[in-house]
Amino acid sequence: MSKTATIEIDGKRYEFPIIKGSENEEAIDIKKLRDLTGIITLDPGYKNSGSCTSKITFLDGELGILRYRGYSIEDLAEKADFLEVSFLLIFGELPTAAQLEQFEVDIRKYTLVNEEMKSIIDGFPRTAHPMGVLAALTSALTAFNPKSVNVDNDKEMYQAVCKTMGKFLVIATWTYRKSMGYPLNYYDNTKGYVENFMDLMFKLPTEPYKANPIVIDALDKLFILHADHEQNCSTSTVRMVGSSHAGLFASISAGVSALWGPLHGGANQAVLEMLEEIHKNGGDTDAYMAKAKDKEDPFRLMGFGHRVYKSFDPRAQIIKKAANEVLETLGVDDPILAIAKKLEAAALEDEYFKSRNLYPNVDFYSGIIYRALGIPTDMFTVMFAIGRLPGWIAQWKEMRENKEPIGRPRQVYTGANLRDFKKPE
Ligand code: CMC
Repeated sequence: MSKTATIEIDGKRYEFPIIKGSENEEAIDIKKLRDLTGIITLDPGYKNSGSCTSKITFLDGELGILRYRGYSIEDLAEKADFLEVSFLLIFGELPTAAQLEQFEVDIRKYTLVNEEMKSIIDGFPRTAHPMGVLAALTSALTAFNPKSVNVDNDKEMYQAVCKTMGKFLVIATWTYRKSMGYPLNYYDNTKGYVENFMDLMFKLPTEPYKANPIVIDALDKLFILHADHEQNCSTSTVRMVGSSHAGLFASISAGVSALWGPLHGGANQAVLEMLEEIHKNGGDTDAYMAKAKDKEDPFRLMGFGHRVYKSFDPRAQIIKKAANEVLETLGVDDPILAIAKKLEAAALEDEYFKSRNLYPNVDFYSGIIYRALGIPTDMFTVMFAIGRLPGWIAQWKEMRENKEPIGRPRQVYTGANLRDFKKPE
């Protein structure tokens, strides 16, 4: 017999089904709660609330497990490449060699961004944060691609996926080129996706450029590690915006804005700024540990803690190893890495951090790699966005294909009761 949960209100009992996921996660299905009882649940920050069922990503925060479509993140980071993982996330299965090649070819068809987009970029000051510019440019893509995708038409959906993958990469790098005052580069259809990222970012018209293959490999892995993370803040935003049947670009633009915050993707920039500050102030990690624990001080140890992971973040473990390897291979001796390791060691021994299950998260080491690869600090969150793009697309597609209703939470009103209108004297 299937399990149920009983809620008793004013002596009346109501029974609700408990649904079980494929990894035995259980949830009380309260869809009929308000209809039956007249009351709602309250869960700010959705710490206990599932917003959907999903077949895309599984994570177990207690055991530190992360899987895309059933494949472990460790396996994917080691054996797959970013476009392969993107295809897997979006379409549900690993591509065959022929499908993967076709996917690359099809993405290339859409890598040219409308020249008029350049006048939009010109309107931004050079000092604008790349994430703000990226959100605006992604949104602007709707103006050049006004037709909304028919999600029930596989061909149309596939084209929309390729278009988004192609154009987003280009405009993401343009945000950097703009900030540097460099001419905007075009995608080179003879090269791979991640190699193109490097060219788009760093190639200058005045000299030849060839990205280091070690850097390309490291970036590919970082993108895979960021590619999806089930119902996090930006992904939920993408699903929420898309649930009103807003278009894919508009939904992703909202996701970019959500990702920008320092408690989410913006943490990778904040981590590096924090490490640099500690370095500048003489490397006293103890002082910063004390600040993080002081309840009067708003400072948090950036790159620590996670809403879901309560033992370790498997992505952080892979990234830590990659950071060591990349810095060694490139011959970079970065004092920031030593500070990060000291901070991590101290936190892992510290009662405050231990009792609250605060472990390094994905952002703690990623910035150190980006820095070693020559990516400027305020582009770190853009890097996260490029990596997360296939996840956003996959989640948006799933939400529409599942015909989910418009997202519209309720609230418990705690404001003033009805009062007479009287102008203040
Ligand atoms: N430094 C110091 N104390 C912390 C930290 C931290 N980084 N993170 C959480 N705490 C404390 C917090 O003060 C609270 O203490 P108390 O119980 O005494 O009030 C307790 O730990 C629980 O924190 P919370 O804010 O209720 O936990 P949450 O699940 O709402 O927040 C988080 C998760 C990631 C927002 C938070 O840990 C944080 O702000 N971390 C720093 C920012 C960061 O690294 N963000 C990247 C997240 S991973 C990448 C991504 O998915 O975007």
